[in-house]
Amino acid sequence: MRRRATAAALAAVTTLVAAGCSGVPGSVTPVDEPEFAQELAVPPLAESRVVDGVRTFSLTAQEGTTSFAPATDAGTATETWGFDGAYLGPTLRAERGEKVAVEVTNDLGETTSVHWHGMHLPAAMDGGPHQAVEPGGTWRPAWTIDQPAATLWYHPHPHGQTEEHVYRGLAGMFILDDDASRAADLPSTYGVDDVPVVVQDKVFDDDGQLELSDDGGEPGTLGGTVMTNGTVGAYQEVTTERVRLRLLNGSTARTYSLGFADRQLDLVATDGGLLDAPVRLDEVRLAPGERAEVVVEMAPGETTRLRSSEADLGGVAAPFAMGGNDAFDVLELRAADELAPSPEPAWGPSRHAAGDALHEQDASVTRTFDLDERTINGERMDMGRIDEVATAGATEIWEVRNTIPMPHSFHVHDVQFRVLTIDGEAPPPELAGPKDTVYLEPRRTYRLLMRFDDYTDDRLPYMYHCHMLLHEDEGMMGQFLVVEPGSDAAPGRAGHLAG
Ligand code: C2O
Ligand code: CU
Repeated sequence: MRRRATAAALAAVTTLVAAGCSGVPGSVTPVDEPEFAQELAVPPLAESRVVDGVRTFSLTAQEGTTSFAPATDAGTATETWGFDGAYLGPTLRAERGEKVAVEVTNDLGETTSVHWHGMHLPAAMDGGPHQAVEPGGTWRPAWTIDQPAATLWYHPHPHGQTEEHVYRGLAGMFILDDDASRAADLPSTYGVDDVPVVVQDKVFDDDGQLELSDDGGEPGTLGGTVMTNGTVGAYQEVTTERVRLRLLNGSTARTYSLGFADRQLDLVATDGGLLDAPVRLDEVRLAPGERAEVVVEMAPGETTRLRSSEADLGGVAAPFAMGGNDAFDVLELRAADELAPSPEPAWGPSRHAAGDALHEQDASVTRTFDLDERTINGERMDMGRIDEVATAGATEIWEVRNTIPMPHSFHVHDVQFRVLTIDGEAPPPELAGPKDTVYLEPRRTYRLLMRFDDYTDDRLPYMYHCHMLLHEDEGMMGQFLVVEPGSDAAPGRAGHLAG
C-alpha cells in the first residue's frame, strides 16, 4: 500500500496554520455517488461459548481480498484485512455483568493489537500499544462487563500503525446490553430493525488496491469512495415502521454529518449508551471513533437515503472534511409495502445505577491538555513516558483545548465522560450523553468530566489521543495511570515500560 511522505504532510499543515487556514488541502477527490444497488452487508454476530462462566469469543486477524465494486472494476480483488474474514469483523455482543474473554489470534505478517474502544476494563486487557500481538501469536484478555448498554467497537492500536491497520479493514462492533436497554422501546432485532452501520472512506489506486493518500492534506486521507460495512452503494430493506441504526465513524480521518434530506431522526444513544431521552435532530456529526444510535421513521413503500452533508465543522474549511462535496449519500433505506408496527422510542428514567452518576461539584482534580498540530501539551507519544497519574475514585475535569484552526477527535480510554462545557457554554443536546470520543472544533476548549473508578495499576497505562489516526500515529497521544490512593507512581520516565 502506498504511504504518504510524513515530512511533507507536516509541512503542509504548518503552512496552512500560518496562513490562518484559508487554503484547502493538497488535492482532494470529491466523493463518488455510486448507484445504490447492493444489499448492505451486515456483520454476523460473533459466536461464543461459555466456559466456566466466561463467555469466550475468538477473533483472528487475517489477510484476504474483497470486491469493492462498483468503486473498483467488477472482478477486482482488493487486498484487505479483516477479523475472521476478509474485511471488518463480526459483531461481539455481551450483557452487563457477564464475564467475557476474547482469544485474539494474529495471522498477519506483522504485529498488531486489538483495543476495545469505549470499554471500561483493566489496562492490561485494553489492547493498546502495550498489548502487542506478534505474528502467529494469541492474546487472551478477560474482564467483566461493568457499564451500561452501549455500541462500542474494536480495532487495532499498534504503536504508529493504527491508521494503516484500521484502513485495511480491521474493525468491528461490540454491543453491550442490559436490563434497561432491553426494556426500552427501541427496535432491537439485529440486522432487521437494529442495524450496525460502519461508515468508512477509501482511496483506490489504478489497480483497485487500497491507498493512503500522500498529498499532505489535513486531517489525513479523505477517500473518494464512502462505504457502509464495506458495501459501496448499499441499500437496506426496511420491514418495520422504525429502524435503529448503530452508526460508527470507522474512518481514519473524515468527519461526517449524517442525516436525511427529507426527515429528522431521533438520537437515542451516544458513545457510551442511552441519552436521558431521545433528541430529535436533522443530523448527527460524527468524528472518527464516535458512535450514535439513531431511530428513523419510514412510511410503507418509500425510499430515503442517509447522507452526509456539509457538517457545521466549527469554522473548518469544508474541504478538510467533505473533500469538495456539499453532500453525498451513504446508505439507502427501502421500506417494504407493508411495515410491521414499531413502538415510539422511550425508556424509563432509572437506566443508570446511582453510582454511575458524575457530578461536577465532586471534581477534585483539573488537568489541561493543549492540542496543536501533532502534540498534546507539547509532547509526542513516548511509550516509555507516563504523562498523567489519576487516583481511583477521584472525579476529574479534563480541560481540552484545541489551539489550532483544524479539528481533532479526542478519545480517552477506560471511561465514559460527560461534556460539561464548550468555551464555557453548555453543550448541545447531542453531546449530553455518555461519551468517550469528542470532535474538537478549532480553537475551542472542552471541559470533560470523568471518574476512574477502579482497575488500578502502577505500571500499565491507558491512552488518550486524537482519533484522527494519522495524528495519533504521528504522536498525538499520551499515557495515564490509574492508581490506588497513596501510590507513589508519578509522571515521567517509566523505565519498566517498553521504550
Ligand atoms: Cu479507538 Cu485509543 O482508540
Ligand atoms: Cu487530531
